[in-house]
Amino acid sequence: MSASASNSGRLDAAYRERFPGSAKLFERSSRLFPNGVTHDGRYLQPFPIFAKEALGSKKTDVDGHELIDYWVGHGALLLGHSHPAIVAAVQQQVAKSTHPGACHELEIEWAEWVRRLVPSVELMRFTNSGTEATLMAIRICRIATGRTKVIKFAGHFHGWHDSVIISSEPPHPANVLAGEAPDVEDYPTPGVTIGVSGDIVIVPPNDLAALARAIDEHQPACVMHEGNGARWGVVPARPDFVRGVRQLTRDKNIIFILDEVITGFRVAPGGFQEICDIQPDLSTFAKVLAGGLPGGVLGGRADLMQALAFGNSFGKKMKHPGTYNGNPLSAAAGIAALEIVATGQPNRRANEIAALLRRELNALFAKKSLNWIAYGDYSAIKILPNYDGPRSTSDEFLPYSGDWRKLDAKQDAALSQAFRCALLLGGVDWMGWAGSTSAAHDEGDVARTVAGFSSAIDWLRGDGFVR
Ligand SMILES: Cc1ncc(COP(=O)(O)O)c(C=O)c1O
Repeated sequence: MSASASNSGRLDAAYRERFPGSAKLFERSSRLFPNGVTHDGRYLQPFPIFAKEALGSKKTDVDGHELIDYWVGHGALLLGHSHPAIVAAVQQQVAKSTHPGACHELEIEWAEWVRRLVPSVELMRFTNSGTEATLMAIRICRIATGRTKVIKFAGHFHGWHDSVIISSEPPHPANVLAGEAPDVEDYPTPGVTIGVSGDIVIVPPNDLAALARAIDEHQPACVMHEGNGARWGVVPARPDFVRGVRQLTRDKNIIFILDEVITGFRVAPGGFQEICDIQPDLSTFAKVLAGGLPGGVLGGRADLMQALAFGNSFGKKMKHPGTYNGNPLSAAAGIAALEIVATGQPNRRANEIAALLRRELNALFAKKSLNWIAYGDYSAIKILPNYDGPRSTSDEFLPYSGDWRKLDAKQDAALSQAFRCALLLGGVDWMGWAGSTSAAHDEGDVARTVAGFSSAIDWLRGDGFVR
């Protein structure tokens, strides 16, 4: 960022002028919510936009601007906003029962879809979120093994409960950036006790030898890996590596949890495990699973999932209440979504359109002589500003040859805020430095998005944020 960069320049003024309705709602929301938001990711200065409605690949804000949406419901909306099949399924169900407080047939049908698409899931339990699913996974592993430690990878996100929030995003500590191995003590996590963090072991991503050493040293209850790598592939994990993790954990008799909360039913109907052709011991899902409504699931080996059963062979049962587990509205939406996902068409489409956008953005950056790069796998598009490594037009290309310390860097906060505001001015709602596509995105959206990026770059240059 240049020294003259300012978030009170022309861009800021134009943003305030363009979104007066959102500014007004922000005044109200700031009196109710810390930072005026209900999810950290939505925090934006001077204020976030407030959405009124959404359809397909677009959302409309309260001032009536149509924005091409790359949040896609935090990854949940593979089919786009308000897909007619999901709207119909939810409308039908809402009149019948939103909560029977009883077992019901839709939860069975929903679970049958999960098992049909993901063969490693022998038994499962629904939760309300991905966070609950990873929490349940860890507790089951502790019951099954009698061990306590959990190995996770630096930068991998598994939700926000105490055990997994540690080391789930940059900044990585200076000593780690200088090349030292990550250590849980170097990752302060306010509000998480030393007792909890002491049970977590952090290993560098994509490093099988480090994982093997950590397993030998700590004899953990489980190893947890995020689908295709840190935060939806900011540091991509390729199938060969995840196959290696599967083999290593099997050889060492350690439970392997694959967290497919974002990759599940998205990268392929059977998730990243289908692409890797592996069977994890346990897998977590949410997002696409519930068709855009709240819902998660943990599933896997029947002998492990028995930890949830009364009178199980472990002689200890994991308690599992939860008012909304298997909620019929989520089930109805989930069934409608998974039925369409089973065709593979939405996955292919979202992946294709993301690849096109990555290519077009890199062409734009070259045209505008801007040192940014777009990369990513499947339906993810990641942007790295200030990139000084080699380039290639191959979609397999990994910036910085995949060096996780460089890929997973904390970006300048003022530039990050200005970038999102500038894109919103250009009609694009981008999720930080990353976006995801849905099957509803098309070539017209890509062209408009590239135009939005082009004008955003001009705004950033005008205010001195980039050269
Ligand atoms: C890989 C992964 N695991 C877990 C979670 C947490 O899921 P939720 O937000 O539903 O609690 C997320 C959410 O983004 C995720 O991407």
